[in-house]
Amino acid sequence: MTAIQIDSVEKSYKGFKALKGVSLSIEEGEFFGLLGPNGAGKTTLISTIAGLIRPDAGSVRIHGHDVVREFRDARMRLGVVPQELVFDPFFTVRETLRLQSGYFGIRNNDAWIDEVMHNLDLTNKADVNMRALSGGMKRRVLVAQALVHKPPVIVLDEPTAGVDVELRQTLWKFIARLNREGHTVVLTTHYLEEAQAMCQRVAMLKLGQVVALDTMPALLRRVSGSQLVVHLKSGELPGELRHLVSHDEHDNGHGNKYTLRVNDYSDVEPILARLRQSGAVIDEMQLEQADLEDIFIQIMEGK
Ligand SMILES: Nc1ncnc2c1ncn2[C@@H]1O[C@H](COP(=O)(O)OP(=O)(O)OP(=O)(O)O)[C@@H](O)[C@H]1O
Ligand SMILES: [Mg+2]
Repeated sequence: MTAIQIDSVEKSYKGFKALKGVSLSIEEGEFFGLLGPNGAGKTTLISTIAGLIRPDAGSVRIHGHDVVREFRDARMRLGVVPQELVFDPFFTVRETLRLQSGYFGIRNNDAWIDEVMHNLDLTNKADVNMRALSGGMKRRVLVAQALVHKPPVIVLDEPTAGVDVELRQTLWKFIARLNREGHTVVLTTHYLEEAQAMCQRVAMLKLGQVVALDTMPALLRRVSGSQLVVHLKSGELPGELRHLVSHDEHDNGHGNKYTLRVNDYSDVEPILARLRQSGAVIDEMQLEQADLEDIFIQIMEGK
């Protein structure tokens, strides 16, 4: 079944087109990444999915339920972690989560609330008022709030912004577990290495349009090759290898450093052999694989 069906969604703010006809279909059980630079329209799209803003045109359905016409049915199936931190400062963490359960008409939810708090390392803050929490802890509560009704579809808008390394790992472990148990996960993040590690499929948004949509392995294959960085203790790069240079930094008193474009490992051996022949002595070398960040930059620069 399709978890989220987005059809030709358009949204303008006072004449400014934040979404210019976005269509995406996210299948049940997917771990999907929604990436794009600041202002690309990610939060606008997520707010449309959550039924918080009405699109000017197009539609969104969650498990078949239209987010405008069948708001309640759609909302029940969706947990959203918003980008902005908004809370009632006078409630404790547990009260906040109980209230949210009540909003979804769920009573006696304490066992699940305890489990969520435990998994997000919030148990010892359960009776602390929201206003007394640090920013990172508030974000954990936002995540917990999105999960109180065990929604089959979870959408996280930059859940790890301002969150320390330890919690990021805790959070990813928990989200990965929920995904393994069948929950659909949609994630936006500016930490591309997190997206690369977690997401099976990615859409990239730019100026309100989808400019790339592919599986992670297919995206990673798109970028042209890798880079071999060689630092020579002595000697120079032979002339016939010059055309491979993507940039070189010359002698800074420690020899010459060159960055060469290579397609794969099989290109490396002949380069090393040629360097040896020419009498150059290698001090250090590294093969750097292209990653999601390289592809993101290529796509955003329209290359
Ligand atoms: N309430 C609003 N009123 C006017 N313009 C808005 C409003 N909300 C968003 N925009 C504009 O719409 C565009 C898309 O914003 P959006 O918040 O969706 O971007 P984003 O991809 O989530 O960016 P970020 O990575 O910074 O969170 C931006 O140009 C933004 O200024
Ligand atoms: Mg945003």
